[in-house]
Amino acid sequence: MQITSVVNQKGGVGKTSLSVGAAAALAERGRRVLLIDLDPQGHATTEMLGMAEIPADRPSMAKALTKMWKGPVEELVVPHPRSNIGRGGCFDVIPTSPGMFDLIRRLDQFRVPGWQLARVIQFANYDHVIIDCPPALDVLTNNALAASHGILVPVQPDKTSIRALRLLGDQVRYVEQTVGRPPIVYYGVVPGLYRRPISHYAAAALQELYTFGIPMLSHLPLGVVMNEAAAHGVPVTTYAPETLQALSFREIAATLDGYLGVHAGPTIVPEEDDFVFEDFIAEVSIARNANDNGSRKKLYDLLPKKPQRPR
Ligand SMILES: Nc1ncnc2c1ncn2[C@@H]1O[C@H](COP(=O)(O)OP(=O)(O)OP(=O)(O)O)[C@@H](O)[C@H]1O
Ligand SMILES: [Mg+2]
Repeated sequence: MQITSVVNQKGGVGKTSLSVGAAAALAERGRRVLLIDLDPQGHATTEMLGMAEIPADRPSMAKALTKMWKGPVEELVVPHPRSNIGRGGCFDVIPTSPGMFDLIRRLDQFRVPGWQLARVIQFANYDHVIIDCPPALDVLTNNALAASHGILVPVQPDKTSIRALRLLGDQVRYVEQTVGRPPIVYYGVVPGLYRRPISHYAAAALQELYTFGIPMLSHLPLGVVMNEAAAHGVPVTTYAPETLQALSFREIAATLDGYLGVHAGPTIVPEEDDFVFEDFIAEVSIARNANDNGSRKKLYDLLPKKPQRPR
């Protein structure tokens, strides 16, 4: 199973469009594909694929990441009902859910932030997992990076993208070091959202992007077909299969497929003690009470603690 994150902390550069388009094109090639909507905005689920968010009383990615729910990943998955799927393939989605925004705060409480997503999907059975990341270098993006073999980076050819790509590079190195994992592969940069014919300004920015030495994949120039497909809740490869954008998604899918099997073995997810909030508070309260002159003792005793087991 190959895991790919679509990342760029810059907003509105085409992450969600690329995640949906690449995932759909892989499914069309007959691959078993899981798309994870990891952006709390939930645009992949609702705006692009016309699907509903998971009801609050059902198992969801937000609950799985915080270990409020510990069932099999299959129970989080909803098949997309209206995409062209090649023989043997599938296009499954883990949609957004209430609690995704709150999740960022809760995940920060884990002692070792980073491996929660990898843990949730480690026993999933797909050829490709594509993760649509939020427009931030936050704990969700770090989780996606920790879990991924490689990344796709959509960029708009302008000056701000140069700096964005540099910052992203720093973050990738930071995650590699903090979670202690092998290097994350740059599958490629995908330039998009520019008007054709390309302006001198955009072409100059593209030239500068080349200097990063990251493979430059097929472009996704502006096209109203992208919005029309989203309005119908289907991927562009299904809605308008002959368009430039659909062809681009197929080429990008072929590139991702080219890495299948290159990454040896499954991602090794380290063991972690379960984080129990009440245990954490109990530890804090013991430590604080030990160093306290008594004036704040009662304050710590008011905090929620795990009920004592009867002796
Ligand atoms: N090639 C394109 N042609 C026309 N419209 C596009 C194209 N790519 C993306 N869009 C539109 O631009 C908007 C932003 O794209 P998208 O949501 O994919 O970006 P994003 O990086 O995921 O945004 P965010 O940072 O908010 O998550 C969307 O409305 C999308 O439909
Ligand atoms: Mg998005």
